[in-house]
Amino acid sequence: SVEPHDLRGRPVVVGSGVAGLMTALLLAPEPVVLLSRAWLGDFSSSILAQGGLAASLDADDSPDLHHADTLAAGDGLCDETAVRRVVEAAPLAVEKLARFGVAFDRSPNGTLRLGLEAAHSRRRIVHAAGDATGRELVRALTAAVRATPSITMLEGWEARRLLVEDGAIAGLLAAGPAGAAVLSASRVVLATGGVGGLFPDTTNPLGSCGQGLALAARAGAVLADPEFVQFHPTALVLAAGGSLPLVSEAVRGEGALLIDENGDRFLAATPGRELAPRDVVARGVWRHRAAGHRTFLDARQSLGASFATRFPTIDRLCREAGIDPATRPIPVRPAVHYHMGGIAVDAEGRSSVSGLWACGEVARTGLHGANRLASNSLIEAVVSAAWVAESVAAAAPDPAVRTRPFPATLPPAPDASLVRSCAAQALGIERDGETLHEAIATLAPLATGGGPASDPAVVLLMMAVAALRREESRGAHYRADFPLQAEKATPSLLTLDDALAAA
Ligand code: SIN
Repeated sequence: SVEPHDLRGRPVVVGSGVAGLMTALLLAPEPVVLLSRAWLGDFSSSILAQGGLAASLDADDSPDLHHADTLAAGDGLCDETAVRRVVEAAPLAVEKLARFGVAFDRSPNGTLRLGLEAAHSRRRIVHAAGDATGRELVRALTAAVRATPSITMLEGWEARRLLVEDGAIAGLLAAGPAGAAVLSASRVVLATGGVGGLFPDTTNPLGSCGQGLALAARAGAVLADPEFVQFHPTALVLAAGGSLPLVSEAVRGEGALLIDENGDRFLAATPGRELAPRDVVARGVWRHRAAGHRTFLDARQSLGASFATRFPTIDRLCREAGIDPATRPIPVRPAVHYHMGGIAVDAEGRSSVSGLWACGEVARTGLHGANRLASNSLIEAVVSAAWVAESVAAAAPDPAVRTRPFPATLPPAPDASLVRSCAAQALGIERDGETLHEAIATLAPLATGGGPASDPAVVLLMMAVAALRREESRGAHYRADFPLQAEKATPSLLTLDDALAAA
């Protein structure tokens, strides 16, 4: 085991999904600590990613087209410079992953097979093992991490608080297998993933409950656009909610249709139909269900017997639920999938707190705007990990940072189950001012209360305050009381103090 005092001077990366693994790998040979709540490679949203990574690799594609599709899906709120940087770096990032040992699906002549997903004007989704892209990425990157001697892994460790002195990061307080410890560090990278676990139905692991956002917010960092939550239109309907299996958008990319119990194709009149941007399709499915229908994805005609070969993971998940997708429509419903908002970061991944960087879903780079384009998240994690690693490496460690006396109390492990119904009511696919006001009144005392609901409540409070302030409908944020889009797209920027003052 590694004693905390051995770690002084090294940057600490928190989180072991694709963003955290890549950041640690790209920092090599600089010694780095990788802190992972679970055994490395066992648990992350990245592992569950099916569709793939978007990169303009085909002869008829270009970064310009990828740029245009990303901006269109983002509904006016993307940062064009961030989009440009990611789409231009994406093709090389795919090559870099292949060099780390990621086995992408290829044609017999060795060229990458490219899938299609909603709102992409070209086939540009690089995938692995058909529909197990995330698992393959995490497998290869975990193996690379384990083979890199400069990376010290702390597995089974959970960050509970960032320590800040004189406005700069001084370390973190973490709970480990044998108790709690202070890790002194003047450079911390948060790569902790999203917020799906704050909601009753999600495609994320339930442990993805915004912990990185709570850490950053309590340290005084600015969050950006936290009200933007992406619902995936097609999670597999299971009797119980919780973490629901995904039925990838790539299935619709291969021609599967959304139908109801009568066989009606209920999105037939929607521009783009099944391949409209994700927010549009998710709202369409949600409204049809709210009108009393059941909703299905029908791949019988488009894929039929080839379903199991092209989508082996989804085929297995469906069969476990008693459905053969070759012969029966798959019951689907929307579920929380991705958080567009996050810790506000600059072009190097730096937050507003000195010594704190963020990368992957927990960061808001400006790539996704109001609605993320499918398969832009893994590619963002890989591309932005390089910016972060470069910036962290260039920042000298602060020699004044020392192991500090242990704080009197370790905050309790967060328990999101206490706030999920509040999240579902106020921050669902359709929102309204009255419900948001009620949620804020419920969440504010929990946020300041210090109990197990406190960190989840901090995150939801900031999301709810931003959602209340945004008196318009844009991308994934739909206000039933403000259904129109404002002329000018304005990012939401707020600190925890701002949110508490508004409560
Ligand atoms: C999917 O496979 O539908 C998910 C892809 C994504 O969320 O980018």
